[in-house]
Amino acid sequence: MIEGNNAIVTGSSRGIGKGIALELAGRGANIVVCCQSRLDAAEEVRQMVESKGVRAVVVQSDIATEEGARLVIERCVEELGGVDILVNNAGVAQFSLIQSLPDDELERTMRVNLFGYFYMAKYAVENMLARQAPGCVINISSILGMIGGAGKTVYAASKGGVTGLTVGLAREVARYGIRVNAIAPGYIETEMTEWMPEEHRDKLIPRIPMRRFGTVEEVGKAAAFLVEYATYTTGQTLVLDGGILID
Ligand SMILES: NC(=O)c1ccc[n+]([C@@H]2O[C@H](COP(=O)([O-])OP(=O)(O)OC[C@H]3O[C@@H](n4cnc5c(N)ncnc54)[C@H](OP(=O)(O)O)[C@@H]3O)[C@@H](O)[C@H]2O)c1
Repeated sequence: MIEGNNAIVTGSSRGIGKGIALELAGRGANIVVCCQSRLDAAEEVRQMVESKGVRAVVVQSDIATEEGARLVIERCVEELGGVDILVNNAGVAQFSLIQSLPDDELERTMRVNLFGYFYMAKYAVENMLARQAPGCVINISSILGMIGGAGKTVYAASKGGVTGLTVGLAREVARYGIRVNAIAPGYIETEMTEWMPEEHRDKLIPRIPMRRFGTVEEVGKAAAFLVEYATYTTGQTLVLDGGILID
């Protein structure tokens, strides 16, 4: 169900979202490329998407607010005719011990990583139901939402919430042919992990059974699998972590 369908990928100006947008575009989906601040980067992704022979629209909006999320859906409907695939990917990482956590960072992390996913899903599902379209929602969570990490408690809480959103919404909309799944990456090479000092990375790699970080292309392929082939799967989380969870 990728070819000829319209996909919104939040946070697709870079990183994992860009990887997913290019994979879905390569398989024939029209793409709404979304960013919050980096419009130039999003325009570059638009050109890359269009070079694959499909349509692309760029929307700059803060999905952490309900109006911002609704704007993305409205632009997709106006320009492409409707939403078939929603990939909730835009996210922020927050690292501090709970006793030194500023309230505004707590609020921001939960707003972007969890509230934003709810708002986007709310308006995307509304459009799918109105068009009786058998759509697909993919939420990008994280293995940290399952195992946590010191200094990553708020991030883990927001990603654990994404699991609840995934199973809850999957139950609500399954009867309409709308599937809702999640992808939980481990460590993927993006700007979110670039900050890591070399010595931290050197300590981390031996704890990953596959001894490397994943790539955005690998996450893109997992998203394509969930949309195209996992047609009897809903409410599930696909883990992409090089084996961390089985170690
Ligand atoms: N990288 C990893 O190892 C890893 C592991 C597990 C899970 N994840 C999850 O995967 C997702 C993508 O991560 P990434 O590493 O690709 O991150 P990234 O490189 O930091 O990119 C983040 C993207 O989200 C967008 N964004 C941030 N806040 C936004 C807001 N309020 N409204 C709209 N867009 C917003 C950014 O837009 P601008 O470019 O305009 O700023 C950018 O496109 C996140 O949900 C993250 O938690 C990542």
